[in-house]
Amino acid sequence: MGVRELMDRLDWGPAPESDELAKALLAERGRDNGMYIDGRWVQPRRGERFDTVNPATGEVLGTIGQADSHEIDLAVAAARHAQPAWEALSGHDRARHLYAIGRAVQRNSRILAVLETMDNGKPIRETRDIDIPLVARHFIHHAGWAQLLDETMPNQKPWGVCGQIIPWNFPLLMLAWKVAPALAAGNTIVIKPAESTSLTALAFAALCHDAGLPRGVLNIVTGDGKTGALIVEHDDIDKIAFTGSTAVGRVIRKATAGSGKGLTLELGGKSPFIVFEDADVESAIEGLVDAIWFNQGQVCCAGSRLLVQESIAEPFYERLRERMAALRVGNPLDKAVDMGAIIDANQLTTIEKLCETGVEEGGTLWQPNIEMPETGNFFPPTLFTDVSPASTVVQEEIFGPVLVSMTFRSPGEAVSLANNTKFGLAGSVWSQDIDTALEVARRIKAGVIWVNCTNRFDANAGFGGYRESGFGREGGHEGMSAYLRPPRTTESELTESKENDANEIDEEGYAVIGVREPTTVLTGIDRTAKMFIGGVQKRPDGGNSLTVMGPSGRIDEVGRGNRKDIRNAVEAAIGRCKWPNMNGHQRAQVLYYIGENLEARRNEFIHRLVKMTGLSDASAETEFDDSVEQWFRWAAWADKYDGRVHETNSRALVIAVNEPIGVVGVIASDSRPLAGFVRLVAPLLAMGNTVVAIPSEAHPLVATDLYQVLETSDLPNGALNIITGLRADLIEPLAAHDAVDAIWVASDDITLAQTMSAGNMKRTWDANPDASDIERLRQSSQVKNIWLPHAI
Ligand code: NAI
Ligand code: MG
Repeated sequence: MGVRELMDRLDWGPAPESDELAKALLAERGRDNGMYIDGRWVQPRRGERFDTVNPATGEVLGTIGQADSHEIDLAVAAARHAQPAWEALSGHDRARHLYAIGRAVQRNSRILAVLETMDNGKPIRETRDIDIPLVARHFIHHAGWAQLLDETMPNQKPWGVCGQIIPWNFPLLMLAWKVAPALAAGNTIVIKPAESTSLTALAFAALCHDAGLPRGVLNIVTGDGKTGALIVEHDDIDKIAFTGSTAVGRVIRKATAGSGKGLTLELGGKSPFIVFEDADVESAIEGLVDAIWFNQGQVCCAGSRLLVQESIAEPFYERLRERMAALRVGNPLDKAVDMGAIIDANQLTTIEKLCETGVEEGGTLWQPNIEMPETGNFFPPTLFTDVSPASTVVQEEIFGPVLVSMTFRSPGEAVSLANNTKFGLAGSVWSQDIDTALEVARRIKAGVIWVNCTNRFDANAGFGGYRESGFGREGGHEGMSAYLRPPRTTESELTESKENDANEIDEEGYAVIGVREPTTVLTGIDRTAKMFIGGVQKRPDGGNSLTVMGPSGRIDEVGRGNRKDIRNAVEAAIGRCKWPNMNGHQRAQVLYYIGENLEARRNEFIHRLVKMTGLSDASAETEFDDSVEQWFRWAAWADKYDGRVHETNSRALVIAVNEPIGVVGVIASDSRPLAGFVRLVAPLLAMGNTVVAIPSEAHPLVATDLYQVLETSDLPNGALNIITGLRADLIEPLAAHDAVDAIWVASDDITLAQTMSAGNMKRTWDANPDASDIERLRQSSQVKNIWLPHAI
């Protein structure tokens, strides 16, 4: 055969990468892998071990130790011991360490890539060209954050000891995403790789050791979910960072509720991949290959839901099937292979079962007639059509090479289909029309949007989800903030003032008197403050009220809200409320106006504060003035909390936009019933959230007096809803409500609120009305990163 003929046929032969060096490394390390604790290699005390296998061949690569509480205690103690000195190093000194780690990864990049492919089954092309280079990039990039920390994020402290739990789909990359920012910020670490893919983490520990990382700063323990749970529950860990399934994320949310531990969760997804009729079809087809067949579809942000505009659907599917038939599935060490093995037999069964369900529910399953390996855990590229928005395969994360597809007619329909999911991790939009692309990018509820591209990642671009895809960001400035916290001094003040709530007269001069069940005989004209729902004053659903007591007896009645009132308020807050669609300038005008109208009722409010709380006139004036100033302050912020444009490894504008979270529940405490309330609701409104607020239980009347201020200030109906009553009645329905996206708790009820929040994985904040403006802005918003690559 001549060269010419060869070129025409474009046949390919196997081009396997050698596994010789990686095998030699494993042999040198010995079959029974230990863990890396306090700078030493430790074998599990109880001697429990399990095999780690190559999913493409079934070959046992070695055994991994199962850590129990003994090893976790050792690792946490080592991390605790090492932390102060690590934090005390200058940013420059920590930068040198991170840089050294990055360089060590680069020097060993090929052996790490081969080892990762052997342990995980993903193609060598991916580990070599994507995973490992990004690992090195993460460490070198975060050396920069360590260096610049004092300048860029002043007055912040590291959390302390971080417990980190990572999945098997990007073993070393997920480690880098967690380890690099934690170390840069001055934390020390106990990290557990996934049980099926621990080998590169252990090789990494050896690199760090040789690079001179101080002992105890990084501890790597191995084991399965039981070991993970021990980390989550350990009393001496300050922050937990988890990437994995939504189910385990939910368990972790509940287990850490009320513990005061920091928590970031990066969970599952079912991300839309939207192709408009004016898209560059060839690019979109290649994009799909990267979206759903990259890493065999075992990617949290996989573009697993294809939405194609009806006008081009048939030719698009045809072209897609052609492309699928050209995918090569096989030995992942082969450099010419597109798709490798599924991680293990369990995951393979999950994928197969979900596909069976898809067919049973009426979907059409299509797979190309391509050569498949005879042994190992392989699954062919798969396309589902004839599915509906409610189909199991459309709603559930399959975590395999299975694409489901539906069609749409208009951009509006595309957006509603895209958002018809409990997840919100990512989305991909394909259109050559800049208006369509950007408008749809803004309207998809997800943390990362790729315009005319997909699955792009970089150390300097935030990554993380909305909704049940979790909270917190990894990468860049946003990711660094997740490993820092405000200094502890303000926190101890906060705890003190909370404790004071229980005293007779608190430090600030409030008589602490609670609401009471109504007394029998009433004198004077009855005034019962109602609820404020959808801009209208509403009687409580249950028809019950509570008596508000002041230092000199009964003052008035307030409605006793119940579950139904909460539901109605949430309904009003989602409904057709105009607030989130108003721009910052318009929101600012309304907030200024509220301040102005509040000022006009100065005497009335001060009188009410005095009568209700027993404050002195002077203290009541101070509180009142603070409340007016807060409305002005947050009016000022409404159009000033800018996003960023990130500098990444791509020729692209990566635009980080601060978006409202959605519907936020606020539970105020009893201290400073007016200012404490305004200090929480005003920032949320400034950022465009809608709010359901439960004011002070003991002194609710200044909040109910606000109704008239709000009614005369052009605040759109439903933007701020106020439900009075007993926290014991109201927190549970509010925190458990699936349409509430976040909850702020300033009272002592954070444990209950965090536990109840696990249902839809809402963000929670142990809210501090005195937190800095920046902290309150951060808590009021979520970041969406929009990737706009460009090249001619
Ligand atoms: P998993 O969530 O069980 O595993 C992730 C990590 O969590 C592993 O290190 C595991 O040992 C640890 N873990 C398990 N139970 C734990 C517990 N109770 N407390 C603390 N740590 C615990 O995920 P798994 O079972 O490997 O995969 C199941 C499904 O999860 C997949 O089919 C996929 O849908 C999803 N998944 C999503 C990932 C993502 O990146 N979003 C990554 C891995 C899995
Ligand atoms: Mg393995």
